[in-house]
Amino acid sequence: MVKKLHPKLTERVSQDVWAEGIEQPVALLELIEEQPGVIAELAGYSVISSRQFSREQIVQLCRLAAKYEAQQIFSQFPLTGKILISAFYEPSTRTRLSFESVWHRLGGDIISITDPSTTGIAKGESLQDVAEMMNHYGDVVVLRDSNNGAIYEMLEGLRIPIINAGNGTDEHPTQALADIYAILKWRPDLVQDDFPEEKKITIGIIGNPARMRTVRSVLLFLAKFSEGIREVVIITNSIQPFSDDQREELEKEGLSFRVSNDLDGSLPDMDVVYINAIAWVGDSYEEHGIEYKLSKDSPLKKDAIILHPLARGEELSTDLDKTDHNWYFAQARGAVFVRMALMSSIMRF
Ligand code: CP
Repeated sequence: MVKKLHPKLTERVSQDVWAEGIEQPVALLELIEEQPGVIAELAGYSVISSRQFSREQIVQLCRLAAKYEAQQIFSQFPLTGKILISAFYEPSTRTRLSFESVWHRLGGDIISITDPSTTGIAKGESLQDVAEMMNHYGDVVVLRDSNNGAIYEMLEGLRIPIINAGNGTDEHPTQALADIYAILKWRPDLVQDDFPEEKKITIGIIGNPARMRTVRSVLLFLAKFSEGIREVVIITNSIQPFSDDQREELEKEGLSFRVSNDLDGSLPDMDVVYINAIAWVGDSYEEHGIEYKLSKDSPLKKDAIILHPLARGEELSTDLDKTDHNWYFAQARGAVFVRMALMSSIMRF
C-alpha cells in the first residue's frame, strides 16, 4: 500500500501570518498622537505591578506596539549587545517564547534558566545572592515564579531591571499589556477621554479576581479606561471573589462592578468576554470556573470579542476559534509587539 503524504506537506507554508489583523494596529496608530517623553520615563525601571503604569504610558506603549505590528519588518536593533536573563521557574508557552522572540527580533542575546533545580537555589542559595550574580551576567531579568514574593526578594539584590512574567496568584502586568492592546485595537476610541454613554462597553470577566493574576493585573489597567466602561460583570461561584481592598481600589479608580453566577443570563450584555480558568498556587494550579464554558452555542452578543490569556482548558471550546469572537489568538500575537514596545523603552538607559 502506498502511504499518502499528510495534506500539510503538499502546501507551501503561508507567508501571511504577519499580515493578520493589520488594519487594527493601523487604526490605533493613526488615532494616538505620539508623545515619546511619556514612555521615555520607563527607561531603567523594573516592572512588577500594573499599578506602576499611568494611562498615558499604557496608551503610548500600545501606540509603539501598533507601530511595530504595522511595520512588520524590523530594521532597527536597539537591543544589540544587551543580554536578557530569562528565568522561568513555572511552565510557560506564550510569555517565555514571546519575551525571547522580542529579544531576538530586537537584536539582543539571551541566557536562560528554565528549572531552578539546575541552579544554586537547589542547594539553598538565597534569591538575593542569585540576583547579585545576575547583575554581572545580564542587562535585564524576566522572572516567572509561582511564589508571589520571590520577585520582591530578587529586587533587593538587583541593580538591573526585573520584569514580572507572573508571580504566583499576584500579578502578570505584561499579560495585562497584551490584553489592553487587544482591546484598544478592537476599539481604538477607548483611548478618548470624553465618552458618550451609548458607546460605553460592558466587560465580562469569567473567573476569580482574588486568585487569578491575569485578572488582577488587567482590572488595574481597565480602571484607567473606566470612562469608556459601563460595567464590569464578574461571573463566578466564589462567595469571596475579591481579595482585601481589591474591589474598593478599583471602584475608587472608576470601575463599576456587578457579580453574578449566571453566565448565560449575563452574556447577552457583554461586549468583551474575558475568560480564564486557572490560578497558579505553589507548584500547581487551582481550576476555577470550569463549570462555566463558552462555545458557539453560548448566547454571545453578535459583535462580542472573547479574550483568554491562555493556556486554554475545557472552558473555551475550539469551535469558537474560527469565529469573529476569537480575539484570543490576536491577543497572544499582540503580546510580542507590546513586549517589544515595553522592553525597548525600558532598555533605553
Ligand atoms: N498567558 C500566559 O501567561 O501564558 P503562559 O503561561 O503560556 O506564559
